[in-house]
Amino acid sequence: MHPTPTTRPRALFAMGRRHRDAMFPPAEIQRLTACVDIDPDHVAEDLTDEPALADVEILITSWGCPVLDEEVLARAPALKAIVHAAGSVKHHVTQACWDRGVLVSSAPAANAVPVAEYTVAAILFANKRVLEIGGLYREHRAPLDWSRRFPGFGNYRRTVGVVGASLVGRKVIELLRPYDLDVLLADPYVSTLRAAAMGVRLVEPDELVEASDVVSLHAPELPETRHLMDARRLGLMRDGATLINTARGSLVDTDALTAEAATGRIHAVIDVTEPEVLPAASPLYTLPNVLLTPHIAGSLGGELHRITSSALDEIERYCAGEPFAHAVHHAALATSA
Ligand SMILES: NC(=O)c1ccc[n+]([C@@H]2O[C@H](COP(=O)([O-])OP(=O)(O)OC[C@H]3O[C@@H](n4cnc5c(N)ncnc54)[C@H](O)[C@@H]3O)[C@@H](O)[C@H]2O)c1
Repeated sequence: MHPTPTTRPRALFAMGRRHRDAMFPPAEIQRLTACVDIDPDHVAEDLTDEPALADVEILITSWGCPVLDEEVLARAPALKAIVHAAGSVKHHVTQACWDRGVLVSSAPAANAVPVAEYTVAAILFANKRVLEIGGLYREHRAPLDWSRRFPGFGNYRRTVGVVGASLVGRKVIELLRPYDLDVLLADPYVSTLRAAAMGVRLVEPDELVEASDVVSLHAPELPETRHLMDARRLGLMRDGATLINTARGSLVDTDALTAEAATGRIHAVIDVTEPEVLPAASPLYTLPNVLLTPHIAGSLGGELHRITSSALDEIERYCAGEPFAHAVHHAALATSA
């Protein structure tokens, strides 16, 4: 049962307009207006002089939301909840929000699904040498002896190293379960027992890198994960191994990766870079053993509606007086994305 119209909380969209337009088509707006009092056409991209803040109880945020600092909060005395229709809240939810006790919910679990799908596709194609063979076929216009050229290639009994049992990392592990692949995990916050329950073997990062045919990064951007893949660790990768980075560009030393990939010794599938975007002259755009994508692993197109659905579920829970299913806890931010 939704609250009656008179008791419906006031809500406001605070995000980039294009995100509101992409994420909240008419059916979703209908679901939203059934439980909150909102002007669905009004999207606050700037909160500096936003009159709607005066009586807003729920801010529905997404990419492009302005920073919710003390000044904004001072003009939003009734604000009780922030429902973020995206992943990380670190960009806009400030200490002032936590100090005020504002409830925060987010949808990184929904956003983890397409990242994990992209990763699994990249792993399977990397082990099968699909990009390289496609390039050679384009060049030679005739089949070659692929097994001689790529001894041991394919997706049977290969080893995948997952760095970080994050929402994305755990989803990758889950999606890899049906395959004949061994999965290693490096994560300082996971016990050997918990790793075993996930069906993976917990190892130290160096061992993971040395033993894996594919190394896939899923740890958050934190001071301790900066350049997790530095020149030394990249040098530990097996000849012909593939590095996948869908996490954040800062996890990899870009110069070291560029140098190592330029030798042709390792392969890379890179969705996030530092800087993002890379300079136009970066060899990573053109090296045949590197696939560079423009931060597309996360939700795009129709995938955005999975996030919308998660956010609407949270708003309905709030309106029904229930706790959020995907509450963000301040203390967890020190080790999460
Ligand atoms: N490419 C994209 O479009 C896209 C989309 C979504 C998320 N991401 C990125 O994917 C990564 C995972 O996101 P998430 O929401 O699943 O993260 P998350 O918040 O669930 O990750 C938290 C977990 O990471 C693990 N972790 C923390 N520090 C670690 C370390 N030093 N080494 C290894 N593991 C560590 C811990 O298990 C921790 O619980 C992040 O870097 C995020 O920014 C990218």
